[in-house]
Amino acid sequence: MNVTNPLLKAQKIGFLGAGNMAQAMIRGLIEGGIPARHIFATNRSPGKLQKLVEQYQINAMESNGELVDHCDIVILAVKPQDFITALEPIGRSLDESKVLISVAAGVRMEQLERFTHGARLARVMPNTPSLIGRGVIGYLVNDDADQALSDTVEDLFLPLGRVIQVGDEDQFEALMVSCSSGTGFVFEMMMYWQDWIEEHGFSPEEARLMTIETFVGASLLAAQAREGVEDLQNKVTSKKGVTAAGLQSMRELEIERALRISFEKAAMRNKEMAKEIK
Ligand SMILES: NC(=O)c1ccc[n+]([C@@H]2O[C@H](COP(=O)([O-])OP(=O)(O)OC[C@H]3O[C@@H](n4cnc5c(N)ncnc54)[C@H](OP(=O)(O)O)[C@@H]3O)[C@@H](O)[C@H]2O)c1
Repeated sequence: MNVTNPLLKAQKIGFLGAGNMAQAMIRGLIEGGIPARHIFATNRSPGKLQKLVEQYQINAMESNGELVDHCDIVILAVKPQDFITALEPIGRSLDESKVLISVAAGVRMEQLERFTHGARLARVMPNTPSLIGRGVIGYLVNDDADQALSDTVEDLFLPLGRVIQVGDEDQFEALMVSCSSGTGFVFEMMMYWQDWIEEHGFSPEEARLMTIETFVGASLLAAQAREGVEDLQNKVTSKKGVTAAGLQSMRELEIERALRISFEKAAMRNKEMAKEIK
């Protein structure tokens, strides 16, 4: 996926934190045509940063202060518990001339506003499949009228997957629960699938393959078909047939209710965690 925005190609992009998410983004940006000389990074400990410099020839900066002074766009890619320690000392330099994009889960827009001085802000939630370019990436900006900021976020995250702008923190949370926690929920189901297959004499490798391909195949079919998921389900379900018997049981056991409660519990935990980050 090429980054086509010529303005973005001219800007200096700084990563504060060079862990998994930053590495996936840097790889995507360089593959998308952003020159490595325009990418800067810091990290608390030196090892990861050194590796990135060797691998992609990006620029390592001495300090977070230097990174912010030098870059037009700063991507805050530290864990939520490190966000205050990282942002507090540099907040003054994050004024209206800078864009700050936070990928830290649970750090709300108002908290970003509190620790910065007028910077244009975006809160972004990439899910873990973003690490292989198949993510769903939700984002929220602090000024809906700032179309240039939305365009910048979309261009930056395009190499990681499908980018979706959300309207408020509630939608942001719904996207996080369904797509980020949702990835974990899908894995939970895949584990049961695989266990049951193994109990019927298949090797773990065969069970793994059968499970993964069933999920991938169903997902690709749903992505490519003109009809919705319900119509596709009807197509594989003949009246009083094998699939119908299984589906009836799933409905009697209230899988939908269980899933909805799991979504709500995850959303509640997200709210609690946001309160814990003071
Ligand atoms: N990985 C995912 O799939 C994923 C998905 C969605 C959202 N996110 C979000 O992305 C953020 C980063 O996650 P990650 O998986 O990339 O974590 P990670 O691999 O632990 O990376 C965070 C990096 O930040 C560095 N760091 C911490 N404090 C710093 C400071 N003050 N200055 C400079 N660097 C500092 C850490 O350095 P050290 O090497 O010293 O620890 C570490 O390398 C998190 O907030 C997470 O919520 C991640």
